[in-house]
Amino acid sequence: MKNIAVLTTGGDAPGMNPAIRSVVRFGILKGLKVYGVMRGWQGLINEELKELGHHSVSGIISQGGTMLKTGRCPEFSKREYQERAFNTLKKYSIEGMIVIGGNGSFTAAHNFGTTYNVPCIGIPASIDNDINGIDLTIGSDTAINTALDAIDNIRDTATSMERIFVIEVMGRDSGFIALSVALAGGCEDVIIPELKPNWERICEDIVQGNIRGKVSWIIVVAEGAGSAGQIAKKITEKTSLETRPVVLGHVQRGGRPTAFSRDLALRLGESAVLALLEGKKDLAVGLCCGRISEVKFEEAIKKKEIKAEYWYNLIKSLT
Ligand code: F6P
Repeated sequence: MKNIAVLTTGGDAPGMNPAIRSVVRFGILKGLKVYGVMRGWQGLINEELKELGHHSVSGIISQGGTMLKTGRCPEFSKREYQERAFNTLKKYSIEGMIVIGGNGSFTAAHNFGTTYNVPCIGIPASIDNDINGIDLTIGSDTAINTALDAIDNIRDTATSMERIFVIEVMGRDSGFIALSVALAGGCEDVIIPELKPNWERICEDIVQGNIRGKVSWIIVVAEGAGSAGQIAKKITEKTSLETRPVVLGHVQRGGRPTAFSRDLALRLGESAVLALLEGKKDLAVGLCCGRISEVKFEEAIKKKEIKAEYWYNLIKSLT
């Protein structure tokens, strides 16, 4: 193998840049020519790629986002676009690809790689931590810490002004961020897509707590389970207590990657290059039970179970 390509796809995650740095520098060390594809699959379709040298990745290790840009590309599921992407690979004699992204990115890599017999290795990077069989994706630690900082700040106002806050965090299909920050932030309740909320109990807890003299609450909601605005309105109606909504939104996706997200990214970049050189394909490298391991794409893209009830019960038992 002489030429490989690296791209980032899906939502950006803090740590994608260190992963690119690792792939480029380790790839060059192993005698490979490394191409960076711009804008994910779109760049492969449109032949937007360039060779990356050692210095091209200088200074990105501490930056969030991705120097290669990223995006979602629904049309890549169509044969016509895959064909164009394959032609780009042939033109540049690219024999293997490293795909940095989340669940949707690996689904696309699996389909494309198996259809055209292109060795693809995935590096899990998504704030949602949605890759099955892998402990933590690149970026999830950073996103949790960013959301937690915000919650700690809001707690100051909640306590001082004796208010209820409903804080919406990211997670369209997953309560992972919500559960992690609700536990670490000592929050009073959490609403996630995996568990049906019991509104009667949530509001009764608040009313009873208020009778005992409790005056502030923080309730975390994952975006996939409802909107902070509607939930705050519902709580005010049922409890007659002032409830304010806060949507953290894309604040959680950006920012300097934590040491954990960087180290993980740098280690996985090396493992992904080695996997390609060893002739492996159709799999992701990732942290599994604390060790760098390999998970077949077919397994990695299955719905990840997050032991929601265990987390929820722990959060509730500590409030
Ligand atoms: O996949 C990561 C994620 O941040 C989800 O948690 C969120 O629902 C989605 O991306 C938002 O995507 P976009 O930035 O495209 O609106």
